[in-house]
Amino acid sequence: MWTNVRLISFPIFFCLLFVALQRLVDSQLNSSDNRCGCVCVQVDPNGQCQRTECGLQYSDMDQASSCPIPNPPEWPALLQIPGPNYRAVRTDVLTSGDLPDASCRSLGSCPATTLVTGNNQSLGEFLKGSMFSTSFTPDDPQGSFATNVVGTETYPERYNYLEPAFASALPLYNIQSQCTSNSTFSISINQSSTSRDIELRCVQGLYLWRNSSSEVNSELYKGYRKGNSEEKINEFVAAYDFLNSDGNTFNVTVWYNSTYKNYSTGAPMSLLRIPRSVNLASNAYLQFLQGSGTKMLLEFVKEMPKPETKLKIDLSSLLGTLFFTWVILQLFPVVLTSLVYEKQQKLRVMMKMHGLGDGPYWMISYAYFLVISLLYMLCFVIFGSVIGLKFFTLNDYSIQLVFYFIYINLQISMAFLVAAVFSSVKTASVIGYILVFGTGLLGGFLFESFVEDESFPRGWIIVMELYPGFSLYRGLYEFGQYSFRANYMGTDGMRWGNLSDSTNGMREVLIIIFVEWLVVLFFAYYVDQVSSSGAGKSPLFFLKNFRKKPQSSFRRPSLQRQGSKVFVQMDKPDVTQELNVIRFIHLYEELFLFFFGFLIFFSFFISPEGEWLEQLLLEPSTSHPIICDDLKKIYPARDGNPEKFAVRGLSLALARGECFGMLGPNGAGKTSLINMMIGLTKPTSGTAYVQGLDIRTYMDTIYTSMGVCPQHDLLWETLTGREHLLFYGRLKNLRGSALNQAVEESLKSVNLFHGGVADKQAGKYSGGMKRRLSVAISLIGDPKVVYMDEPSTGLDPASRNSLWNVVKRAKKDRAIILTTHSMEEAEALCDRLGIFVDGSLQCVGNAKELKARYGGSYIFTMTTSVNHEEEVENMVRHLSPSANKIYQISGTQKFELPKQEVRIADVFQAVENAKTKFTVFAWGLVDTTLEDVFIKVARGAQAFNILS
Ligand SMILES: *[C@@H]1O[C@H](CO)[C@@H](O)[C@H](O)[C@H]1NC(C)=O
Ligand SMILES: *[C@@H]1O[C@H](CO)[C@@H](O)[C@H](O)[C@H]1NC(C)=O
Ligand SMILES: *[C@@H]1O[C@H](CO)[C@@H](O)[C@H](O)[C@H]1NC(C)=O
Ligand SMILES: *[C@@H]1O[C@H](CO)[C@@H](O)[C@H](O)[C@H]1NC(C)=O
Ligand SMILES: *[C@@H]1O[C@H](CO)[C@@H](O)[C@H](O)[C@H]1NC(C)=O
Repeated sequence: MWTNVRLISFPIFFCLLFVALQRLVDSQLNSSDNRCGCVCVQVDPNGQCQRTECGLQYSDMDQASSCPIPNPPEWPALLQIPGPNYRAVRTDVLTSGDLPDASCRSLGSCPATTLVTGNNQSLGEFLKGSMFSTSFTPDDPQGSFATNVVGTETYPERYNYLEPAFASALPLYNIQSQCTSNSTFSISINQSSTSRDIELRCVQGLYLWRNSSSEVNSELYKGYRKGNSEEKINEFVAAYDFLNSDGNTFNVTVWYNSTYKNYSTGAPMSLLRIPRSVNLASNAYLQFLQGSGTKMLLEFVKEMPKPETKLKIDLSSLLGTLFFTWVILQLFPVVLTSLVYEKQQKLRVMMKMHGLGDGPYWMISYAYFLVISLLYMLCFVIFGSVIGLKFFTLNDYSIQLVFYFIYINLQISMAFLVAAVFSSVKTASVIGYILVFGTGLLGGFLFESFVEDESFPRGWIIVMELYPGFSLYRGLYEFGQYSFRANYMGTDGMRWGNLSDSTNGMREVLIIIFVEWLVVLFFAYYVDQVSSSGAGKSPLFFLKNFRKKPQSSFRRPSLQRQGSKVFVQMDKPDVTQELNVIRFIHLYEELFLFFFGFLIFFSFFISPEGEWLEQLLLEPSTSHPIICDDLKKIYPARDGNPEKFAVRGLSLALARGECFGMLGPNGAGKTSLINMMIGLTKPTSGTAYVQGLDIRTYMDTIYTSMGVCPQHDLLWETLTGREHLLFYGRLKNLRGSALNQAVEESLKSVNLFHGGVADKQAGKYSGGMKRRLSVAISLIGDPKVVYMDEPSTGLDPASRNSLWNVVKRAKKDRAIILTTHSMEEAEALCDRLGIFVDGSLQCVGNAKELKARYGGSYIFTMTTSVNHEEEVENMVRHLSPSANKIYQISGTQKFELPKQEVRIADVFQAVENAKTKFTVFAWGLVDTTLEDVFIKVARGAQAFNILS
């Protein structure tokens, strides 16, 4: 719960971050730089300001844009002139002879050059001649430069409320065809109470004729700055192409330099300085038509009026797209790792083995993640709205709801699909988080620029949006765009009606993610069915359901198979002689099956419709919950290694109430066998029946009556022991008080009840406690068949004893297969033992039988003084002629006495006699242990296998 609470509160952190940043930005935007300038015009005697006045006249360049401007000022139209050091001169790049010599730069007297071309040179020459006056005209009205051509090197601003040329310290230039004198001229800035003296410098305007427009072009092109050194920069004022102009037509092209702009404010365009260059050409043409007395004067340029504006930037809309993409994507690795965790810890298989079907598992997990994601998103949206993030408040909540809802569904399905690829939580979470951050960054820096690029094909954007991360980004981007605009202009954000806007990508995104959700969900389920837990299914499993007509899942195995099983057990070709004996004992236990099989064999001749016989035959199968029929597992040849026979044809029947102990050296194939029985792998050939159901087809049903205690504890680290038992008990259909009672009994029986152990997290258990919990899990809910893989490993003797008692009690009504390396455990718990070597059972029987069969000798030890050794040996030879001395050292001797030759009573008698003749320090007679049997069988089998 706390993990989820922490997860859900994660977006709150982001929202708060945004609020804090927004405050910062707001205060920055509300700083005096970004507000219309104000001045205190009336101060009271205490020095407090009584009245302030705001307006354009109190503002500087930065502040002007915020001021209300009901009557925009008129500004003289200026020409953009390159600075003295940048004006075009003759260099190695610009080689035209008529350009001024580079030496003028040091003198600061370079002329400002304009290039002219056209179809009719004589017309062109005339026009260029009449563009500039030869001298400064003193009677120019003050503040207007209509007759004098005045330029500036100050860069223009975005707007023209204030002409920067008049605010800057740089001089203005009066452009004349010949410079005679500098003059200083005082102008007063309109609407401002102060007037300034501004220096007006003379600069020579040089007009150069070129023969074609391409020549002009190439010269302008070459003049464009190369590198940073001043010598390489050659700027022109403008260029004109008079084309086909003549007495009837005035047709002109004007080149202007659009890169004159203030990079710091990002102000675009020197367009504001273009009217003057056009006016110069028109004026010259008018004079050509009408004579020099006619003038077309451009007195002022003036902008349109505007109200006071405030700069408002909503950060959540501007940056939200990227950050909210992260916030929402963040759920992906969470779902993914949690799914992979269950896979990595094999909990999924464990749950399946205890009867949790795929369908319910999917539904529950999906619903769980959906609820978590919904809460997460709700928390995110509600909290964001409460603290007033425009991103949420301005857009229609129903669109947001639909978008987020579909998207989180898609994301969960995606996690299910991707989880099939990973088997380690670490890899999954690393990849998951890389995806989260990578997607956000790629979205922000690549995808967004594509979306904004009008010329980028829309089709490719749709293709990119097929990647869910980008469709999320696009959706959030649209929300951000609409809320940003709405906040800036004070209108509504996105409404349903806006979905049909031509630039709004939301509609496609909604369609894409909805369709993708359905497709991905289907594929995720499919891939899961094919690849994941359990025996797996063929990739075309769903076709099978169509082809095969549905059968009752409780169908019993067919008659023939049941019969053949008995025969198979009888004649296994590769058995040693010893093995044959065991086989018959085994057969004896299955005799009734054999008998009925025999009957049926004949009944097919006598009465083919003898169904009563079938019934009879099938009856025993329920009394034998586990029947293995020639079960084989062969791992295919790989990497140049030959095929590996893990299980070489195993036949076995286990009666109800029986505990079968499987002994065998490591790597003998025990685990392969168990894995087949619990449905983790499929048998290569042969099959097994559990409760009469074939493991190849009815594994799902078998799981409901099966309990497994795996070799490695498969537990959720964060669940308590009690919760584990409650969960698995519930899977076995226990409920209410029955469940609680079963859990309590179970906890008590494995010694986990007292001292609050049951309510501690399983992750904090010791190894022994985990083991006991695993055993308890395997037994809860009364399974009919239980597999225990080394259940008592790592337990202290006391817990082991109590565990044994649990297993003994549990044995009553069910069949248990138990593997162990502890002979003591095998003897204590198992009714029958099988020694499994190299893929096949070497012998089957109870402990006593095995000992009798394989350990056919007693070990007799006697210690005397050294000089009596001979007498002892004689005595032993007398007892058993074929006795075999295995060990002798300073008076202690050890003999192996074949059982069939000695009676224990005789041995005692002989020892009593011996004691009367010499001193016996110590003596002992030991039966062979199961361990001896085990070693003998294992060795024998391996030797046999090597020979064959
Ligand atoms: C902006 O700052 C001024 C004083 O500097 C203050 O009076 C005004 O309330 C502020 N406006 C906002 C929206 O914070
Ligand atoms: C060029 O223009 C002049 C007028 O300035 C005109 O007299 C002359 O005929 C024109 N030349 C051509 C080739 O059009
Ligand atoms: C105009 O003034 C500049 C700088 O003050 C000076 O270098 C230049 O020689 C002057 N030109 C004339 C014609 O006086
Ligand atoms: C245009 O203006 C830029 C400065 O913004 C200058 O570097 C460039 O050389 C100019 N180009 C021409 C052809 O004058
Ligand atoms: C102006 O010149 C262009 C380019 O030479 C030409 O295509 C256009 O027809 C001319 N316009 C007139 C009105 O002559």
